[in-house]
Amino acid sequence: MSIFNRFSLDGRVALVTGGGRGLGFEMARALAEAGAHVVLTGRTAGTLDKAVAAIAKTGGKSEAAAFDVADIDAGRAVVADIRKTHSRLDILINNVGARDRRPLAAFDDREILDLIRTDLLSAISLSRDAAEIMKERGHGRLIAVTSIIGDMAMPGDAVYPVAKQGMTGLVRSLAVEYGAFGVTSNAIAPGMFATETNAALSENPDMIAFARRRVPLERWGRPEEIAGAALFLASDAASFVNGHVLTVDGGMSVRM
Ligand SMILES: NC(=O)c1ccc[n+]([C@@H]2O[C@H](COP(=O)([O-])OP(=O)(O)OC[C@H]3O[C@@H](n4cnc5c(N)ncnc54)[C@H](OP(=O)(O)O)[C@@H]3O)[C@@H](O)[C@H]2O)c1
Repeated sequence: MSIFNRFSLDGRVALVTGGGRGLGFEMARALAEAGAHVVLTGRTAGTLDKAVAAIAKTGGKSEAAAFDVADIDAGRAVVADIRKTHSRLDILINNVGARDRRPLAAFDDREILDLIRTDLLSAISLSRDAAEIMKERGHGRLIAVTSIIGDMAMPGDAVYPVAKQGMTGLVRSLAVEYGAFGVTSNAIAPGMFATETNAALSENPDMIAFARRRVPLERWGRPEEIAGAALFLASDAASFVNGHVLTVDGGMSVRM
């Protein structure tokens, strides 16, 4: 089989949380372009509909499932629906990651749990249900979007890194638990990406200068620059890659 064919996702079904915009949309678009049918999730039906239309314009197949990932039962129902409708789920990208930049003392316990529920518990639950479906077919790709934050920390941003490191632990647990069933589990750790959510930062001259100083490529990442990593990990080209964290940060995390 040619190396290009090993990147084909023809006939595969993928679920991408937060796939309506930002990095999630770029990853979903790439999977669809490679032939997968992609289920996009997010809280806003209108955003998802636009994303489905944009993917259709390029000949890709996708559908929307609107729900808040903090609603664990809703997530479980979506995975069950996918199984019922498509009889398979080959790829799960846990991409949602809410961030609340505050020091630890500014959080009460309820707020901490809410953030952990959205960023981590949701991914644990979706992974469990998806992995069990993948296991039956002897093939699957679990992908978590973590962050270079977690290995590194920033003052005034206490809880998000905890959730992201939890995701890294999850990726490794799944890698050893499901590897024997042909299901791999890997993470993508982005650096600074100029997504819509980050617009106020990525367009700020101080933050442009910061990126120039701190990122060896001297700039913010463009959202579409995440797509190659996602397609690789989702494809047969990554058949022996398991338990890995693929950093996509322009070199920021290795710079002294
Ligand atoms: N951008 C960066 O520089 C960067 C760096 C490191 C790591 N990351 C990680 O990469 C991932 C994507 O980042 P991004 O910048 O593309 O994020 P984003 O622009 O905030 O996009 C998030 C997506 O998730 C959906 N979403 C947010 N909260 C949700 C919830 N509770 N339930 C369901 N859907 C929800 C949003 O749609 P709705 O609003 O319609 O729900 C949107 O589609 C996150 O995990 C983030 O932590 C990003």
